[in-house]
Amino acid sequence: MSVTYSATRTAIIIVAAGSGTRLGAAMPKALVDVDGRTVLRHALEGVFAAQPMQVVVVAPPGHEEAVADELAEAGGGHDLPATIVTGGETRQQSVAAGLAVLAEGIEIVLVHDAARALTPPAQIDAVAAAVTSDAGVIPALPVIDTLKRVDGDAVVEAVDRSALAAAQTPQGFPRAALVAAYTRALDDGIEYTDDAALFAAAGGAVRRLPGSERAFKITTPADLDRARMLLRTASVPAGSPSLSMPRIGVGTDVHAFGGEGDLWLAGLEWPGEQPLSGHSDGDAVAHAMVDALLGAAGLGDIGQHFGTAHPEYAGAHADVFLARTAELLAEAGFAIGNVSVQFQGNRPRFSARRLDAEAALSRALGGASVSVSATTTDGLGFSGRGEGIAVTAVALIVPRA
Ligand code: CTP
Ligand code: MG
Repeated sequence: MSVTYSATRTAIIIVAAGSGTRLGAAMPKALVDVDGRTVLRHALEGVFAAQPMQVVVVAPPGHEEAVADELAEAGGGHDLPATIVTGGETRQQSVAAGLAVLAEGIEIVLVHDAARALTPPAQIDAVAAAVTSDAGVIPALPVIDTLKRVDGDAVVEAVDRSALAAAQTPQGFPRAALVAAYTRALDDGIEYTDDAALFAAAGGAVRRLPGSERAFKITTPADLDRARMLLRTASVPAGSPSLSMPRIGVGTDVHAFGGEGDLWLAGLEWPGEQPLSGHSDGDAVAHAMVDALLGAAGLGDIGQHFGTAHPEYAGAHADVFLARTAELLAEAGFAIGNVSVQFQGNRPRFSARRLDAEAALSRALGGASVSVSATTTDGLGFSGRGEGIAVTAVALIVPRA
């Protein structure tokens, strides 16, 4: 089937071929789940909500079919078919692969990171509209942090941030000049940090327009959490009272006794007590607390943030889980009011170490109030038979003003 793009002279190359080393997921970053939809799916939905243009998706090698599925699901209603090409080892090679399949008649090319999954469609339209026959355009944000030039540990000097801007995508260019600049870069063998740098190195002029916070690049696990949080907040209507009310969450956990070593429970080591088995140290009190806190904030659950997909937490103790949970809540704009947790089990005998446990758990949460109690079940059930323990936690959190 031959396709004409007479409806548009603009194309967008969405580079999605990176492996996502810094994100550290089991699959290429573009295919990582955000909220039931992948990073790429969000990027595509943003692109399809902008003005119609030829869409070229540069896929991670070996994942072309998954990319085709994403396109099929995101592209409903869009009348311009999209093209999928396989990416290269570097971002620059991936862009070059996309440039090679531009349709005839395309005069303006936007290059966009799939990893900037939440980029507003208006930013895509603004870039497309601002490209001229002799100049490229990039969205950029002012730099907020105070910047220092450093040499190892030494701070050499302050850098004037008013002369700097942080570049985003999509970056837009006149096609012929961009293709020529890429050919030149290929000949020179130089890897540029972005398309604007490559374009400028070939003598092209580049202008900037305002970027947006939502166009941040998902690079690290914290960025992924930020994207999830933004999407969750977006699903609560503006002005809803639930945005300002305190929120509660509940978490439960059950672990069987078993395995080697000493027991870890409620943030303490219990020498001589039978350990609990589990992916980490089996500290069911801490795990129930994490679920209560994440649930209160609407941030998912312990499996999502700390499960087997995160081998860095294998063997970790309560302080690590709880500190990270407190950080997630802080990033999502919540302060922790208090957590109340109770476990059912015959052992360990808890009352003598209650204050130590509460202090350890509170410290891990950055000082939030934690109360812990223990009870037995009159010999009934698995905890009564001494097979394991069951924990229930309730957390109260408040949105920061
Ligand atoms: N990209 C690409 N081909 C590559 C490398 C990167 O298409 N060989 C794309 C990524 O998919 C991403 C964008 O370029 O959408 C920005 O790159 P980056 O955020 O660095 O993604 P990754 O390279 O995947 O991540 P990392 O550097 O952590 O490995
Ligand atoms: Mg990279």
